[in-house]
Amino acid sequence: MSKIASPLAPRATAADVVKTTNLSGKTAVITGGASGLGIETARALLGAGAAVILPVRDATKGEQVAAELRESTGNPQVQVTMLDLGSLSSVRVGAAHILELAPKIHILINNAGVMATPEGHTADGFETQFGTNHLGHFLLTHLLMPALLAAAPARVVSLSSSGHRRSDIVWDDIHFERRPYDRWQAYGQSKTANALFAVGLNGRYAAQGVTANAVHPGGIMTGLQKHMTLEEQRALGWVNEQGEYHPIFKTPAEGASTSVWAATAPELEGVGGLFLEELQKSEVLDHQNPNPLFGYKAYARDPQSAERLWEISEQLVGLS
Ligand SMILES: NC(=O)c1ccc[n+]([C@@H]2O[C@H](COP(=O)([O-])OP(=O)(O)OC[C@H]3O[C@@H](n4cnc5c(N)ncnc54)[C@H](OP(=O)(O)O)[C@@H]3O)[C@@H](O)[C@H]2O)c1
Repeated sequence: MSKIASPLAPRATAADVVKTTNLSGKTAVITGGASGLGIETARALLGAGAAVILPVRDATKGEQVAAELRESTGNPQVQVTMLDLGSLSSVRVGAAHILELAPKIHILINNAGVMATPEGHTADGFETQFGTNHLGHFLLTHLLMPALLAAAPARVVSLSSSGHRRSDIVWDDIHFERRPYDRWQAYGQSKTANALFAVGLNGRYAAQGVTANAVHPGGIMTGLQKHMTLEEQRALGWVNEQGEYHPIFKTPAEGASTSVWAATAPELEGVGGLFLEELQKSEVLDHQNPNPLFGYKAYARDPQSAERLWEISEQLVGLS
């Protein structure tokens, strides 16, 4: 496939990406929109004229962010709704409310996520990171599909991570019932699931006008690192003894750019099933591309794995 890339430099901001884009009349749903990349993703889409719905698990925080976004963008079209991805019943209630607010959804950005959480389970007994990052979004997307199809062409963006390299799906023990819990393997597995979900979704719905891509946003200091100590961040070289972050880290406005590009770029119209990073189509990691900072593992785009994950996910969330 030919190179697919934004004409912008990789450190462009989300606002740069939509500088000449008019999203008036379009509706976007952004999970995790009350923090980190979600706020900046929402800010850029609002700035381009879209209406935005923010499903959040903390209503007070969500309303505060919504007020600030209305004020800073001059676009009043922000609505907040309660939705906890760690509870399938909450996802069902939240999705029903979103459908009342928006019969047509042109952009769904599955952005919310948790990283390296202590061992735990969602309300339905799933391992926390797989349950929250993947299964909650899997069910939400399924429930919002009528509105995405009604808006077609529509786009779904699935926030993965370079962290997917830490683990493929461990099919016989997804929930760490037969192996010791490892919070990084669990994060990696959930982010591989996010990438595979884009492949599975695109395969099912692209012909009907709903495309899906996975995104690695880069490294950005947000609320995501809250389960890591400063010592751990120092040991990884993320922060030095003076408390300064490595220059590789992007600002949240830069980190939101590839999501916004995936959601709006004309060069991605009708294009799906890809892994995107640095405002371009990423490359598979192999001996020709051993780059530790760019690229995805082949297992994260394997069509058979995407199919297997889809079937397992349907069973787990009670759709089959
Ligand atoms: N930052 C990075 O370096 C980086 C790198 C690679 C990939 N990513 C991915 O980018 C996405 C956004 O991360 P971020 O950096 O913006 O992190 P963040 O600031 O921690 O934002 C994550 C958002 O997800 C929400 N969330 C967590 N659990 C939820 C649940 N059960 N139900 C509903 N919402 C929930 C959080 O809500 P609360 O505010 O209520 O906690 C928060 O708004 C994540 O999927 C992450 O894996 C980030």
